Amino acid sequence: MAAGWGRLAALLLLGAVVCAAQPRGRILGGAEAEAHARPYMASVQVNGSHTCGGFLVAEQWVLSAAHCLEDTVAEEVEVLLGAHSLSQPEPSKRVYNVSRAVPHPDSRRDTIDHDLLLLQLSEKAALGPAVRTLPWQRVDRDVAPGTLCDVAGWGESKHTGHRPDRLQHVLVPVLDRATCNKRALHDGAISARMLCAESNRRDSCKGDSGGPLVCGGVAEGVVTSGSRVCGNRKKPGIYTRVASYAAWIDGVVGGAAA
Ligand SMILES: *[C@@H]1O[C@H](CO)[C@@H](O)[C@H](O)[C@H]1NC(C)=O
Ligand SMILES: *[C@@H]1O[C@H](CO)[C@@H](O)[C@H](O)[C@H]1NC(C)=O
Repeated sequence: MAAGWGRLAALLLLGAVVCAAQPRGRILGGAEAEAHARPYMASVQVNGSHTCGGFLVAEQWVLSAAHCLEDTVAEEVEVLLGAHSLSQPEPSKRVYNVSRAVPHPDSRRDTIDHDLLLLQLSEKAALGPAVRTLPWQRVDRDVAPGTLCDVAGWGESKHTGHRPDRLQHVLVPVLDRATCNKRALHDGAISARMLCAESNRRDSCKGDSGGPLVCGGVAEGVVTSGSRVCGNRKKPGIYTRVASYAAWIDGVVGGAAA
């Protein structure tokens, strides 16, 4: 009996270790995306390593999440467009330098509020079938709960052995804010400028930060970049609502002072 319990405990411990290690930095419960079917996807890279997702909102601008580039200067940042595999050569792949990194002025290290970042490429992206801008929502209205939205990403490469080399994606249903703000879930942390999506085994995770939540072909949200448990239904995925920041995005992209 004692040996049995010991083994059970060891198994539980192993299970805990595996569970703790496995979800980090990758789309959970998803599948490999169809190659180049999300031509807006960007891999934001620091010193040549995938750090965050992002998406092309204008020919020369990528939207991502503010915390992705803390402690980083624009010179170390590059943006990879037209990719499916991060490592394999693909004719559509191209790396761009970043001439300007503009975090939202109210983003703060210790909160997930205003977690947006605009990256200006040093030149206009070469658009084509595998590189295109994604329309984003400008009407400041909540997405209907239950709407199935698509989130894609390469996950983070730094802290885990398994980095998904090819783009992964998953469909997640939008969760209403009142439920998401329940004490047992995010306990009031979700502002009107954020939205939640269910995270029951299927979820976005840390390395997917900065990528878009796409509902009906339009970006509604950006995967936030705070540390968060992934794949736990009690910790729904948190996304920054782009419509709530339309004036800021237009101002920066249009050349007004950030
Ligand atoms: C990127 O590389 C530079 C030069 O090697 C180094 O100083 C810097 O710390 C690196 N940045 C990150 C975020 O790893
Ligand atoms: C990107 O920046 C590096 C370092 O500043 C430079 O050597 C390189 O030529 C630039 N590449 C492009 C495509 O502008």
